[in-house]
Amino acid sequence: MRTAVGRVRPAGVCLRGFFVSMRVSSIEDSRFKADSPRRIEEGEDRAMRAAIRLARRGFGTTHPNPRVGAVLLREGGIVGEGFHARAGEAHAEARALAAAGSRARGSTLVATLEPCAHHGRTPPCADAIVSAGVRRVVLGMRDPNPLVNGRGVARLRAAGIEVVEDVRGAECRELNRPYLKHLATGLPWVMLKSMISLDGRVAADSGDSRGLGGGSEQRLCHRLRAEHDAVLVGIGTVLADDPELTVRLVRGRSPVRVVLDTDLRTPAGSRLVMTAGSVPLAVATASEDRARIEALERRGVSIWRFARSPEGRVPIRRVLSRLAAEGRLSILVEGGPTVHSAFLSEGLADRVAIGIAPLILGGSKTPGWTRDLGRKGVGDAIEVGPLVMRRVGRDLWVEGALGASEAGRV
Ligand SMILES: NC(=O)c1ccc[n+]([C@@H]2O[C@H](COP(=O)([O-])OP(=O)(O)OC[C@H]3O[C@@H](n4cnc5c(N)ncnc54)[C@H](OP(=O)(O)O)[C@@H]3O)[C@@H](O)[C@H]2O)c1
Repeated sequence: MRTAVGRVRPAGVCLRGFFVSMRVSSIEDSRFKADSPRRIEEGEDRAMRAAIRLARRGFGTTHPNPRVGAVLLREGGIVGEGFHARAGEAHAEARALAAAGSRARGSTLVATLEPCAHHGRTPPCADAIVSAGVRRVVLGMRDPNPLVNGRGVARLRAAGIEVVEDVRGAECRELNRPYLKHLATGLPWVMLKSMISLDGRVAADSGDSRGLGGGSEQRLCHRLRAEHDAVLVGIGTVLADDPELTVRLVRGRSPVRVVLDTDLRTPAGSRLVMTAGSVPLAVATASEDRARIEALERRGVSIWRFARSPEGRVPIRRVLSRLAAEGRLSILVEGGPTVHSAFLSEGLADRVAIGIAPLILGGSKTPGWTRDLGRKGVGDAIEVGPLVMRRVGRDLWVEGALGASEAGRV
């Protein structure tokens, strides 16, 4: 009988030559492919959870590649593990195989995503798995990339390797929302993030919003930046708050920063521009003012020129397409209510994250985190959910996906 990672499983029932405990059947994912053996072992499920945790270590660095984790099991123990860290570097499966060396022979590979079967910047993982003598492969999901999409699984099965699919499939898809959305729509995945007071305002009447979030919320915000491929605001936020939008409070690299600025009002002395030499800054504009363009370019700012949208502003969809073309697939929008509303109105947002401070600001000038969305009745409201809520230091944090009708769901 095969054993779970690090411990012996209780005896189970024998089906088609495989032992399966009654508990194990409860961890099956109901969407196994018809030609897959319909079971996994408890140790394999634990290994899949470990692979998912490993894959998360690639957040913010693997783009445009997916986030992938892999674990090799042999005789009840882990003999190798790996995750994909950066495009062009070794894939998760290759790292796990390298760590296992000769112990990979006869092992079970547990991976969050179907292994590739094509030559990219690295050789096909499916071939490496076959050559290493892996006996069984447990997968979270198929890779819908047209270059892979079933070919990896077919290659493994053709070599006589037993393949089980769709194990913790929903969690594995969750790891790669940006990758999947981009494959399905050509656009990046977008999270809108805002901090509000208990009375729902994004700033005091002075226009100031700095310090609304407590220390823990600010660290969480920096972690979110590190996990996204780009962070975006409108010029209104730049002029009001002079943010730097870099990662300083946690470890991690700062993503590309993007400002929507139709008339190129971004001040040359702003924190964003002053740090453009070390962290990339792109200003998306419709301005043709050569003097301003050159002044910003001299300071290391990239100017992205677009024709005005019908509303007379920078066309957001085209900015997103440009980001996707550069391989930036997850975008954190930290703008004010104007930019957030524009993303919602155009159906370009996928998730919202709202921090709520235990402060009552009062005031008559500042709005909530959205402006007019043209929705008159409660029945017209945008649905968000399922909601995830937690305490972050002294603040509350609420997150949820936008309803299927509001964004390009995948
Ligand atoms: N509490 C928070 O989390 C938080 C975060 C950020 C900001 N804020 C507060 O929000 C206030 C600023 O709000 P805001 O709405 O002016 O900031 P914003 O949404 O960041 O910027 C709005 C500006 O972006 C520009 N823009 C360019 N293309 C656009 C497009 N397609 N759609 C929408 N906007 C586009 C527009 O100016 P042009 O037409 O000139 O390009 C627009 O006025 C400040 O008080 C700030 O402190 C709070």
